[in-house]
Amino acid sequence: MSRILLLYASTEGQTKLIAERMAHTLREKAHSVEMLPADTAPEGLDFRAYDGVIVGASIHYGHHPAYLRALVRRHRDALEQRMCAFFSVSLSAGGPRPKPAAAQRYMDKFLRRTGWRPQLTASIAGAVRYSLYGPIKRRVMIVFVGLGGGETDTSRDYEYTDWAAVGRFASEYAGRLYKA
Ligand SMILES: Cc1cc2nc3c(=O)[nH]c(=O)nc-3n(C[C@H](O)[C@H](O)[C@H](O)COP(=O)(O)O)c2cc1C
Repeated sequence: MSRILLLYASTEGQTKLIAERMAHTLREKAHSVEMLPADTAPEGLDFRAYDGVIVGASIHYGHHPAYLRALVRRHRDALEQRMCAFFSVSLSAGGPRPKPAAAQRYMDKFLRRTGWRPQLTASIAGAVRYSLYGPIKRRVMIVFVGLGGGETDTSRDYEYTDWAAVGRFASEYAGRLYKA
């Protein structure tokens, strides 16, 4: 059994849901998993307490959150000394008109700016949750999603996450843990 930290940065909750699904898969394989929202990570967070770390974050306006970038940069060495993985959540990764090259660019930019080299990465499709947006964000998203050929009926939410792929990512991570 390994101790795993699942550190996530989520604005509207989809990355958190994805992290929870990964935690579920890892716990089924008898690992102990701790989940931690990155914006509440304590100053003295000690990655040495874990055998492995998975970091996940969503994209807003073309970026992963700056606070997560700073956190990863600060703890890069400790992260690289254990089995670590990164997943990036966006609409470019999946949805009505996916743009995998753009999703890959977001991820590459984050890794370049942090200098972090995780052993495993994934780009995962997120969701459009009109029900959670305030009036300004809803307007922005109607334009953004509409330009991409997506759904602009705001009376419901749209989830594009491929849950089977999320499970496969967690299983692959667990498989590599045993080899690490
Ligand atoms: C205000 C806003 C801006 C966004 N900007 C982008 C973007 O630039 N590129 C992209 O691929 N997805 C973008 N998205 C889609 C989010 O990545 C997607 O909704 C994701 O599921 C959010 O995850 P979270 O709920 O964990 O924050 C944006 C979403 C919102 C609400």
